[in-house]
Amino acid sequence: MGRGIAQALADGGHRVSVVESVAEVAAHVEALDHPRIALRGLEDAVADCDLVIEAVSENVDVKLALWRRIDDLAAPRTLFATNTSSIDIDELARVLGDPTRLLGLHWFNPAVVVPCVEVVLGSLTGEATATAAAAMMASVGKQPIRVRTAPGFVANRLQFALFREAMLCLEEGLASAEDIDRIVQTSFGPRLARLGPLLSADLGGLDTYAAILQYLSAHLGERFEPPQSLMRMVAEGRLGAKSGAGVRGLDAAEYDELSRGMADLLRDAYRRPDAAPVPRS
Ligand SMILES: NC(=O)c1ccc[n+]([C@@H]2O[C@H](COP(=O)([O-])OP(=O)(O)OC[C@H]3O[C@@H](n4cnc5c(N)ncnc54)[C@H](O)[C@@H]3O)[C@@H](O)[C@H]2O)c1
Repeated sequence: MGRGIAQALADGGHRVSVVESVAEVAAHVEALDHPRIALRGLEDAVADCDLVIEAVSENVDVKLALWRRIDDLAAPRTLFATNTSSIDIDELARVLGDPTRLLGLHWFNPAVVVPCVEVVLGSLTGEATATAAAAMMASVGKQPIRVRTAPGFVANRLQFALFREAMLCLEEGLASAEDIDRIVQTSFGPRLARLGPLLSADLGGLDTYAAILQYLSAHLGERFEPPQSLMRMVAEGRLGAKSGAGVRGLDAAEYDELSRGMADLLRDAYRRPDAAPVPRS
């Protein structure tokens, strides 16, 4: 991830210093041969920079040890960011002299391609830190989206819920690994990518979604229990597009327009639904 992040920032016009402890990995960074990327030692790299992005292995102790060193070496004006996928920002901020300087900048692989960067605010992250870091992400063409810290933040909480169920479907012998992936690619995957899970539910009908979750929780366990907020909305008659009020808070006319235009909206997303990266055997 570090290499991709460095490349994205350098492509966006920034001078980037990369610190990598394994020579073989450092050689991959060198091979980029990018005029704005240089390999440096930690002391030189953090001595006078605008932003440090830590992207070492997803291990709390490894990260804490590194953050203690960065905190000693960096200038007071430098912003601190971690690319952690799941670790609560507050858990890392506690070793810093000034925890308001740290936030999460959660990039996605491949970093040079994926627009979203989750800008993760710890409970002590300063507003100035968040604003400056988000502006820097926008300056290199990324789409910074603010979230509050919690294990997994938003993207990985969603992504890993799906991954876990996919592994369980495989483990239970419901379908082959290849077919599980193909089902997602050719069914709800493209729609989910275009609408997101909440607008999808509004268009599908919140009462139907609630009923499905109730059935699933009765048969598959409490991990499928419908959230109280969903049951409340259903009780109040907020059923999504069909009732003109839903989770996304659009007005009745907007929901109506979306419902009527959904097939056109999604046609492109489903073009060549069988275009999988690995050919079927
Ligand atoms: N893999 C992904 O898709 C992905 C996506 C988003 C975020 N992340 C996060 O990014 C971070 C890195 O993930 P990754 O998949 O690139 O892991 P990785 O294990 O492939 O890379 C980590 C790199 O850090 C180096 N390293 C470890 N300790 C170091 C130190 N003290 N100084 C310098 N270099 C050091 C390692 O040699 C290794 O090359 C993790 O926090 C991960 O959760 C990963």
